[in-house]
Amino acid sequence: MNEPKVNELYQGDCLELMRGWPDHSFDHCITDPPFNMSKKKGLGWAFSSHVTMQEQWDIFTDAGYLEFTAAWIREVSRLVKPNGNTFIFGSYHNIYQIGHILHQLDLRIINSIIWFKPNAQPNITGRTLTESTEQIIWACNNTRDKAKKWVFNYWVAKELGNGRQLRNMWELPYTPKSEKKYGKHPAQKPEALLERLILIGTNENDLILDCFAGTGTTGVVAERLGRRWVMVEKDPTYVEIAQRRIEHPRLSAKLI
Ligand SMILES: C[S@@+](CC[C@H](N)C(=O)[O-])C[C@H]1O[C@@H](n2cnc3c(N)ncnc32)[C@H](O)[C@@H]1O
Repeated sequence: MNEPKVNELYQGDCLELMRGWPDHSFDHCITDPPFNMSKKKGLGWAFSSHVTMQEQWDIFTDAGYLEFTAAWIREVSRLVKPNGNTFIFGSYHNIYQIGHILHQLDLRIINSIIWFKPNAQPNITGRTLTESTEQIIWACNNTRDKAKKWVFNYWVAKELGNGRQLRNMWELPYTPKSEKKYGKHPAQKPEALLERLILIGTNENDLILDCFAGTGTTGVVAERLGRRWVMVEKDPTYVEIAQRRIEHPRLSAKLI
């Protein structure tokens, strides 16, 4: 088995790639998988830019989604060191399945973090509440009985909470346009959200895996914060956007 290359963005299927890497290759994993929320026929609103997701990579049968999700979470758990942190993004569409799989693997769940988006797009059907949250499950890569000494940078978290213990409900606006200048992705996460996770749940120089990189937000922020990373993304269009985002801070660092 070959070691994954540090600070490398791999283009390909994450399951195939991860299966070729040795156990305990990473300190942590932070990842934002397909949510299985896309519609084959999207809804649009003539007077706004509101759209529902219609991404091929996000469309599964219910059984197919469970099987795929269980398979990649098992691989992540094999690849992350014992007691390393795993942060997995989700919404009501998939977070219960993810939680169920983590329970079945007997992994210790540390917290579930609510990301509240004050500027979430309105609900166009008028039949439900306006969905304006996503969840992030924070799990320690060990069993509920044995989990210990996971990274939690308490004082950094307190600083982020303006001197108070940081709560698990974070109000952060949806990804700003300035972070999308190299191209768009319908599920791109704001850098501010990744900054919090990385500062709280990893240490400098730690190696972080993101197996569903999209536009590479995890690697961009990890590099800025002095962490190392490995990312995988299947779609070449998103790989290109991610490459450009990653190169940008490296170039500016050289200029300074
Ligand atoms: C929710 S998005 C991640 C967005 C990312 N957090 C960002 O900030 O840009 C999930 C990504 O996983 C990719 N993907 C889906 N299935 C994959 C697979 N089997 N292997 C690698 N990437 C995959 C999709 O192309 C998509 O870009």
